[in-house]
Amino acid sequence: MDEKTLNSLILPRHIGFIMDGNGRWATARGLERAQGHKAGAQVFRSISTYCAKLGIESATFYAFSTENWKRPENEVNALMKLFKEFLEEAQAREEENEEIGFHIKFAGDTANMPEELVSLFDICEKRSADKTGTTVNVAVNYGGRAEITNAVRSIARKALNGEIAVDDIDENTVSSFLYTAGQPDPDLIIRTGGESRISNFLIWQSAYSEFYFTDVLWPDFTTDDLDRAIIDFCSRNRRFGAV
Ligand code: IPE
Ligand code: IPE
Ligand code: MG
Repeated sequence: MDEKTLNSLILPRHIGFIMDGNGRWATARGLERAQGHKAGAQVFRSISTYCAKLGIESATFYAFSTENWKRPENEVNALMKLFKEFLEEAQAREEENEEIGFHIKFAGDTANMPEELVSLFDICEKRSADKTGTTVNVAVNYGGRAEITNAVRSIARKALNGEIAVDDIDENTVSSFLYTAGQPDPDLIIRTGGESRISNFLIWQSAYSEFYFTDVLWPDFTTDDLDRAIIDFCSRNRRFGAV
């Protein structure tokens, strides 16, 4: 996006990406589905870098849902391997990522995830914790319902311990127990791959999000496609229930 256009827009503070279509992209090329995920990982890299360049505050990337465990074992294993490689590479590129200013955060349930992966995420989070550029939430083993259920459990525990009064529990309390605590709710949620559904992504946080669905498959998604989504978002009239 050119400087002039950029300066004329009020950008979304938080963008959510449902990175769908990797499998179909690969199949259409006679490749293994895992190859599609590999290509998708490259696009994740370029789009997150572009978000930082635009000055987007938060970007959440849906990489693996709590429901994706239903996939064939070899695909799940390939994805876990890819996440691991990706995190190792992020460490190797630490200087570059520091320069971009990424603050990397894991969003998801660490239970039943490979331990090695959990600790790699932990290292990435800690090393980038003081960065003030774009917060990149990587949603792995993420499900909106599981996230809310976990929040309810934590709040109930606090209530039982007498740390919080039941009548003091409000929407802010719930938000503060979600993975995105402290970040603005997503203004814009982009889903590639042609499906018009949310698939358990940020279901609490997206109460007033604007949705942008595109047929472009995630491995084909470019910074120009993101520009188009942002410009479309900027033309919308958000009323939040008012007139
Ligand atoms: C999205 O691409 C990535 C994950 C869900 C891990 P898909 O793998 O769902 O791709 P399609 O929808 O089958 O094309
Ligand atoms: C949503 O894609 C999850 C991710 C992009 C990680 P899916 O491909 O799993 O969604 P459904 O099954 O088509 O709803
Ligand atoms: Mg899919």
